Amino acid sequence: MRDPRLQDSYVLHVLGARPNFPKAAPVVTGLAELGVRQGIVHTGQHYDVLMSDVFFADLGLPEPIANLGVGSGSHAQQTAALLAGLEEVVLREKPSLVVVYGDVNSTLAAILVCAKLGVPTAHVEAGLRSFDRSMPEEINRIVTDALADLLFVTSPDGLSHLAREGVPADRVHLVGNSMIDSLLAALPKLDPAPVQERLGAFGRYAVATLHRPGNVDAPEAAKELVDAVLGVAEQLPVFVPLHPRGRQRLADAGLVDRPGLSIVDPLGYLDFLSLVRGSALVVTDSGGVQEETTVLGVPCLTVRPNTERPITVTHGTNRLVTPAQLPAAAAKALADGATTPSEELPPLWDGKSGIRIARVIAAWLRGDNLAPASRGIAG
Ligand code: UD1
Ligand code: UDP
Repeated sequence: MRDPRLQDSYVLHVLGARPNFPKAAPVVTGLAELGVRQGIVHTGQHYDVLMSDVFFADLGLPEPIANLGVGSGSHAQQTAALLAGLEEVVLREKPSLVVVYGDVNSTLAAILVCAKLGVPTAHVEAGLRSFDRSMPEEINRIVTDALADLLFVTSPDGLSHLAREGVPADRVHLVGNSMIDSLLAALPKLDPAPVQERLGAFGRYAVATLHRPGNVDAPEAAKELVDAVLGVAEQLPVFVPLHPRGRQRLADAGLVDRPGLSIVDPLGYLDFLSLVRGSALVVTDSGGVQEETTVLGVPCLTVRPNTERPITVTHGTNRLVTPAQLPAAAAKALADGATTPSEELPPLWDGKSGIRIARVIAAWLRGDNLAPASRGIAG
């Protein structure tokens, strides 16, 4: 039922890149259940149908009220376009609160714009740290968490990171993982057969996703990575729904269709998770995919020197590997098989994070005193 005290409130969600969409959908649904007026601004950081539109359809996200169409560019160019576009829309819409997600450039720009305009903000997926400032996302995380008024944390390690950086405890709420809400809601719809049929993924196969600048931007790194993936493709068929970033560089380094290796366009949300659900192994450098494989119980090898999501290693199926280690680690993971019983899943990754976040936001909008959830857990 609509709370009359919320009637004058208006929440604006800023979304722009593929991983934002599954994080936001459960929060949007939760706020709708509580009768909070809201709108989505799409920055246009990602713009291909398969990187954006398909997620709105698969996740049932409402149409954005605006698409800023900022597109691609260097970090400075893209962030500058984001800042200018977002300032205009925030001034026009006059939101009570702006909600930002994850660690992409759209998130950083939105938090900066709002901080300068004095508009309150909430950050969903706060507190993650790789402690690797060569990753653009790490810079975005640190700045976003320093400026957000409400911080929603996915795993307990985030609480200590934020405390160490001096974020006041009463801003911080441990709520679990809203991206996992989307996954759990999608589970009944995940049918591997149609996407397997379409791609010719029969029998035992692996799925690989690769897009981190550290892996795909420099020719030497791309070559090392491709050689490692070829080492996996000698063991079982590998399907690679390839992110547009680094596509050409990886192709130059030999990541092209050949026996055992299929390069395909990025997949829609439901198709991708269906393909992963039916797979024997995932090789990735994605953040979100480390979490999703943890819940699906599919062995995951993350080709990165670090992860901001260590809980996927301690409570999940994830292992960090170097490219040189990948083929042997794949052989071992295939021999060991899927192992994660659901009771070992990270705390609060239970499909209820969206409504937890919505309740905290609604209480904040009503002006209620919020108990610092970092001392406990947001109900
Ligand atoms: C961005 C995020 C990264 C996230 C990834 C998820 C930042 C700094 N990085 O990286 O954290 O893991 O999204 O997918 O925000 N391109 C297209 N079509 C599109 C979008 C991009 O072709 O719809 C190509 C363009 O050549 C572009 C390149 O991909 O230059 C990179 O896009 P960009 O949004 O700048 O960064 P991502 O690598 O996608
Ligand atoms: N994903 C998808 N299709 C693909 C690859 C990934 O739907 O071809 C989904 C994946 O299930 C997860 C999200 O995209 O929900 C992760 O985004 P990405 O790997 O681009 O970004 P990161 O998590 O690394 O920031």
